[in-house]
Amino acid sequence: MLSKISSGATFGLESISVDVEVDVSRGNLPKFNIVGLPDKAVEESKERVRSAIKNSGAKMPVSRITVNLAPADLPKEGPAYDLPIAVGLLIASEQLKGDFSDSFFLGELSLDGSLRHTNGVLPQVQLAKNHGFKKVFVPAVNGPEAAIIPGIEIVPVNCLLDLYYHLLGDKLIPSYQQGNLENLFSNDVMSDYDLSRIRGQEQAKRAIEIAAAGGHNIFFSGPPGAGKTLLARTIPTILPRLTLEEALEVTKVYSVSGLLSQKQAIVKIRPFRAPHHTTSHVGLVGGGVNPKPGEISLAHRGVLFLDEFPEFPRQVLEAMRQPLEDGIIQVSRAKGTVAFPAKFMLIAASNPCPCGFLGDETRECTCLPTAISRYQKKISGPILDRIDLILEVPAVKVEKLTNTEEGIKVEDSKTVAKRVQNARDKQVKRFSDSGIFSNAEMRIKEIEKFCQLSNDVLNLMRQAVSQLRLSARSYYRTLKVARTITDLSESEEIQLSHVAEALQYRPKIEF
Ligand SMILES: Nc1ncnc2c1ncn2[C@@H]1O[C@H](COP(=O)(O)OP(=O)(O)O)[C@@H](O)[C@H]1O
Ligand SMILES: [Mg+2]
Repeated sequence: MLSKISSGATFGLESISVDVEVDVSRGNLPKFNIVGLPDKAVEESKERVRSAIKNSGAKMPVSRITVNLAPADLPKEGPAYDLPIAVGLLIASEQLKGDFSDSFFLGELSLDGSLRHTNGVLPQVQLAKNHGFKKVFVPAVNGPEAAIIPGIEIVPVNCLLDLYYHLLGDKLIPSYQQGNLENLFSNDVMSDYDLSRIRGQEQAKRAIEIAAAGGHNIFFSGPPGAGKTLLARTIPTILPRLTLEEALEVTKVYSVSGLLSQKQAIVKIRPFRAPHHTTSHVGLVGGGVNPKPGEISLAHRGVLFLDEFPEFPRQVLEAMRQPLEDGIIQVSRAKGTVAFPAKFMLIAASNPCPCGFLGDETRECTCLPTAISRYQKKISGPILDRIDLILEVPAVKVEKLTNTEEGIKVEDSKTVAKRVQNARDKQVKRFSDSGIFSNAEMRIKEIEKFCQLSNDVLNLMRQAVSQLRLSARSYYRTLKVARTITDLSESEEIQLSHVAEALQYRPKIEF
């Protein structure tokens, strides 16, 4: 007999529906074949399904079994087809009866018939919903993750035997109910860092506040020990909350990367990724035989912190040009390309030269001019052009470091986070119909609409373009930063002082 069960495959972040057809023909020599471009893990499904069926008390048919995963020309990977294959087999061998055409199945089986945590459940449930399925059967441990998608029934399966009784109608598994998701997100990050612990560096602190509010990129340059790494690591304490839509995007990336656990079904706080410069190219930008997201996609809607920026291979820095502009990364593979989202806030930190003391007031730089220029050339113009806030972080004066006098009020992260959240709320509201969430994401269309300048402000901008030799790209980036500075203030309209402040963060450093 022949059976057909619905399941899905994930490519990059996209899901494609897959029909699992199982044919059991009696009277032939016993054989178990899987066709339809299975990879090794799918191929090994045979052994898992065989044991799981036996250990659940059902019969493994002694006949010729053919499993076809259609469409046949699409490569299938991973163990998520175990469950649909097992259910298909039970139907084809007439141990189960019924119409399951409104149901979607996925999950990896253990030999004892229990279901294991499976990667990429979230995008698959989304696919099932989009294709009009009524129910999705997922491993019980993936229940919370699956239930994030509203409007489709999620049945959490502990083991094949439970599912068998459920499908027979003997003992139903209650479907999974998710609580209210909106309340999940908070920006109370447990952290050892706090803005109040950073002495001095007022300008840099202001810059990270602006960056966090509008999702802008920052480049810090300064001598060793100035506090660049400290500043960057403090950013998560002031970031705005994720919106539900953003959280879903991030969770999809983590779901296909296998980084979600039962405890963390949905990513609740903005990611902060700080890969080392020795991380491989694939690890950073994504790729591989079965393409997986790299660090820049794991930082989607969060922060990508590249410390010691010029130490990263030039190839990696160049590969970031497209995502810095478009928010996605195209990863090429044997058959076409896969796109992963990569809308991140880039925080780059660098010493001004190999020894680190170029331009320092207290210490002499010992680098040869050629070494300095070689070092600085690593950060190419095109990359710098894509950074919104560029600033020098000088060493903190000893007096400031040791100053513990009362009366000097230093704001803590909580206070700043409130302002940031307030500014971000204005943006989310402003862009509610445009599919974007922050000022940094504005396209020309939105810039023209939301960054209108009065005549005297426009004059200042004109002067700046010629004096600072701003490119068209930096011009627009400055406008976006000015918009964020306005959002942090009480004002609705962009004022002269806002543009003037935004212009301060354009490069004085010539690279
Ligand atoms: N402005 C500062 N306020 C308080 N501590 C600081 C400051 N700058 C540096 N430090 C201390 O010095 C250490 C080294 O700073 P770090 O951020 O690693 O410097 P950089 O990355 O610029 O070389 C930090 O862990 C911190 O303890
Ligand atoms: Mg450092």
